[in-house]
Amino acid sequence: MSTTAFSASAFELPPYKSLSNEELSQRIEGVRSRLGERLLLLGHHYQQDEVIAHCDLRGDSYQLSQMAAGSSACESIVFCGVHFMAETADILANRPEKMEERSGRRVTVMLPDMAAGCSMADMAAIEQVENAWEDLGEIIDNSDITPVTYINSAASLKAFCGKHGGIVCTSSNAAAVLEWAFARTSRVLFFPDQHLGRNTALKMGITNDQMPVWNPFESDLGGNTEEALQQSKVILWQGHCSVHQMFTAAHVHAFREQYPGIKILVHPECMQEVNDLADVSGSTGKIIQTVQQAPAGTQWAIGTELHLVNRLKAEHPEQQIHFLSPVVCMCATMYRIDLAHLCWTLENLEAGTPVNVIEVDDETTRWSLTALERMLEVH
Ligand code: 13P
Ligand code: SF4
Repeated sequence: MSTTAFSASAFELPPYKSLSNEELSQRIEGVRSRLGERLLLLGHHYQQDEVIAHCDLRGDSYQLSQMAAGSSACESIVFCGVHFMAETADILANRPEKMEERSGRRVTVMLPDMAAGCSMADMAAIEQVENAWEDLGEIIDNSDITPVTYINSAASLKAFCGKHGGIVCTSSNAAAVLEWAFARTSRVLFFPDQHLGRNTALKMGITNDQMPVWNPFESDLGGNTEEALQQSKVILWQGHCSVHQMFTAAHVHAFREQYPGIKILVHPECMQEVNDLADVSGSTGKIIQTVQQAPAGTQWAIGTELHLVNRLKAEHPEQQIHFLSPVVCMCATMYRIDLAHLCWTLENLEAGTPVNVIEVDDETTRWSLTALERMLEVH
């Protein structure tokens, strides 16, 4: 276990749950103004509006990593996102040169609800990864494989990549990271999102028959033949995002039929069939930027998490924005971060009894930092 969680008594949250949003917001703002620069509240674009309203900075996964890495004045970070993001913030904010600048003082990183995980990150358990690496080593020279992990992964997997000459990527720099990897080895093992890996590699001219999928639940070579693995360029781990998996080619066709000229804008965690049909594919940051830069009157069907699409609709009434799926696709774990949890976390922090502290152990930090620093240099 690479994370230590100091959770306060379960009896403390219910009173917060009974407070109105208005009261919670006032109390949150009270703590923010009293702690001033000592506190940094970071929010991912998928957070609900009520929470985003209190964040100092918001961004996509890459931007949030940069913000955590650059934080100097703050003593604490409250991360309104999911577990792997808070782990990454802890690793980057407390890296050796930053600790030295602060005379050894750590930045305390907190996640308001410890149940805010990521189902995709959970699809690549470190034991499964280590077994796969060993099995692959029996048929391919491991020193000719670069392990690349999407930032949506546990710190232990980032550390595995760091230890084996590998690197972390985000949805905004995956192509540059793959290029970095191919400058070193002729093969990549890509975790845990097969769709981001496939969509990125296809754009680089790698074909599907060079991208076998490794199923960690198949005992025999992840369900592949020796020949398929030997001929591979990218071995894709069989993971996916349950939110983005819901968008289909049929949704794209239905929108194109109903709204001729509509632009389809999707996240690369969507399946290949959706990415292939889209006009633009990119990180949450790129999705926002694309809409911001479009002329008034542009019609969009956007395939990413619901809260972000609804916020874009509200912020851009001059454009016509639709959600790409007829069913609700929202990140249920991200949604666990609400005003009650945020207020509870902040008031405990101010009282000197921080709760839900994310602290990655030293060994995991050391190696995952290696992989994260490579990523920050490549971008
Ligand atoms: P980005 O914000 O980096 O595009 O990532 C999307 C996502 O799924 C975060 O978990
Ligand atoms: Fe994980 Fe998907 Fe939620 Fe992102 S949207 S945090 S990948 S479950």
